Amino acid sequence: MDRKIVKTIKGVAASDGDGVKLTRIIGVPELDMLDPFLMLDSFASDNPGDYIGGFPEHPHRGFETVTYMIAGKMRHKDNAGHEGVIEAGGVQWMTAGRGILHSEMPEQTEGLLHGFQLWVNLPAKDKMLPPAYQEFSASEIPVEAFEGGTVRVVSGTSGAGTLGAVQGTATNPLYLDVTLDGVFTQSIPTTHSGFFYVIEGDIAGVPAGHAGILGEGDAVALPGVGRFLLIAGEKLNEPVARGGPFVMNTRAEILQAFDDYRSNRF
Ligand code: CO
Repeated sequence: MDRKIVKTIKGVAASDGDGVKLTRIIGVPELDMLDPFLMLDSFASDNPGDYIGGFPEHPHRGFETVTYMIAGKMRHKDNAGHEGVIEAGGVQWMTAGRGILHSEMPEQTEGLLHGFQLWVNLPAKDKMLPPAYQEFSASEIPVEAFEGGTVRVVSGTSGAGTLGAVQGTATNPLYLDVTLDGVFTQSIPTTHSGFFYVIEGDIAGVPAGHAGILGEGDAVALPGVGRFLLIAGEKLNEPVARGGPFVMNTRAEILQAFDDYRSNRF
């Protein structure tokens, strides 16, 4: 059964890091979370004043942050010695696990910076694992052509069986970047929550800058002309306790995270 669009979301203007202007699509009153997705931010501006402050050093514990760039460059750096630049078409899938301190700063002083950050929750059993990374440049992400477009398989498996670059993460996510002039069909396991975000054009009646939240089913068929991200992940169905950059199962675990952070145990 094909999944229907049950809700269309525009997101709200927000600011994070050192004054970076962004649009928050998941993690807002209208859509607090879409299990396992805790947050989706889109940043897109060619005004350096909107992004130049970047995201200076901050901690995370208990979930994954996924940065995917459409245009421009971001430099990331962390306290475990990892550093690199994510360029247009590249992805960084960071499993924060028990904790990491990192920064994400624009590697440019002018021009368009456009990208997404998605927060993916971890199951209780994985929240305190050591931090890990998967990072791929645009040329390392498989691209598949189909009748009516192309799909970049960041994570998961396309309909034709192309395996995504990012593998082995906890919620068996699907993360596709689709350019379409026709109809795109994709199977999505019934265990997963799913949505799509329209970057350009109009997809199934959802305009650019909006997300279409998908209902229950085992597949989706999206007609349209444009570019969109199709994202799905396995529901965890666990209690969620949030404290800023920490996402755990209980309030006590959040207090522990703040205590560990203040005591330099990250
Ligand atoms: Co971060």
